[in-house]
Amino acid sequence: MTQQDSLARHAAELAQDHVNSGRLQAAIAALAAFGGRDDGGVSRETLTDIDLAARRYLIEQARALGCEVSTDDCANLFFRRAGKADLPPVLTGSHADTQPVGGKLDGAYGVLAGLEVIAALNEAGIETLRPIEVVAWTNEEGSRFGPGAMGSSAFVDPACLPAYRASVDGANIRFGDALDAALAATDDVPRRPMQRPMSACVELHIEQGPVLERAAVPLGVVTGIQSVRWYRVECTGVMAHAGTTPMDERSDAMATAVGIAHQLYAYAAAEAASQLRLTLGRWQVGPNSVNTIPGKVEFTIDVRCVDEAVLARFEATLDAMMAQARPRQGGVTYQCFFRRPPTHFPAAMLSLIERACARASEQASQGKPLHLTSGAFHDAMYLAEHCPTAMIFVPSKGGISHNAAEETAPHELFLGAQALAYTVAALANQ
Ligand code: GLV
Ligand code: MN
Ligand code: MN
Repeated sequence: MTQQDSLARHAAELAQDHVNSGRLQAAIAALAAFGGRDDGGVSRETLTDIDLAARRYLIEQARALGCEVSTDDCANLFFRRAGKADLPPVLTGSHADTQPVGGKLDGAYGVLAGLEVIAALNEAGIETLRPIEVVAWTNEEGSRFGPGAMGSSAFVDPACLPAYRASVDGANIRFGDALDAALAATDDVPRRPMQRPMSACVELHIEQGPVLERAAVPLGVVTGIQSVRWYRVECTGVMAHAGTTPMDERSDAMATAVGIAHQLYAYAAAEAASQLRLTLGRWQVGPNSVNTIPGKVEFTIDVRCVDEAVLARFEATLDAMMAQARPRQGGVTYQCFFRRPPTHFPAAMLSLIERACARASEQASQGKPLHLTSGAFHDAMYLAEHCPTAMIFVPSKGGISHNAAEETAPHELFLGAQALAYTVAALANQ
């Protein structure tokens, strides 16, 4: 090991050992108050007023830590701790938006642990060679405006932004208008270009699944992310009176949609061995009246698999199902509005993260880190196209997420932040 390597390793260990669990827990509780629910969950969908208030809070916290704050055309927020040299920074962070009913940790944990790393570095008096930036990406969830991971994908490929701006939410608000309002609310924050060079990126996140908990292991080295596709299916029929229209004279958009849904669930059951995951998560019914036959039903399909060939096969089957669905009047159309192949993180990043996780686990007398693939998608999926990227996972109690009951034990959240501190400090001295 060169003298520079051994100094870098010493700084990484020092940063890891200065992570403060109480401070991290307090930060998680404080951010969760923005959109906090009586059931313990958080409702903070992207670019809502409550999200804008949370962003303002994060800006203030970052400034108090001595960070320079900037934003970009997709309202991503960057909190920068200067390095000794003005080199491309090491990026960490995640997203602060939630599902309509989410928990305190999905996304928020990665952002707050990033700020905790900065607090730990400050406290330990460590100056790194490269700057470190903590990011809060805009609209990772994709629940209000589709698709998901808009901020990170637009950062990596700004050509995506014009189409994103046209995306509308359930109240017909354009993403572009919500974005402009968010940027206006942070007009004290300088705007930086997208696609800025980054030397590396590491995202810390809760697993959101059962793997780590079942293995009784507190830290996971994430080797990659499974592939995902989202579709929108629109069935049209003819609105008519529920009481007077004979059953065989109806063109019921709901009957068409339910028929397709049955076929889709049957297909997913037949594909169980290939680990296909299928969700029909959002339904919109027009006119949504108890006594009118639906004239329009729109629903979404989320399909995921580690093996992208399974999703290609699914799409061919979906195409055939649509061609066969022949409502009496009206029709069926579908469109894919999000697709990503699987992501594979580079070996050098995985071995650094392995070392960081192993040291944190060992000091806490816990089991060795486990390698696993992410079932959820993350902003890291896009950053992987931009710079060497990887992720660290901590367990999710009961494997539950996208639910108010989402939970991770404080000592596991602490170990995750320790592993992050080691990784970020090591990368920032390379
Ligand atoms: C992210 O929230 C996902 O749906 O994987
Ligand atoms: Mn997330
Ligand atoms: Mn999520």
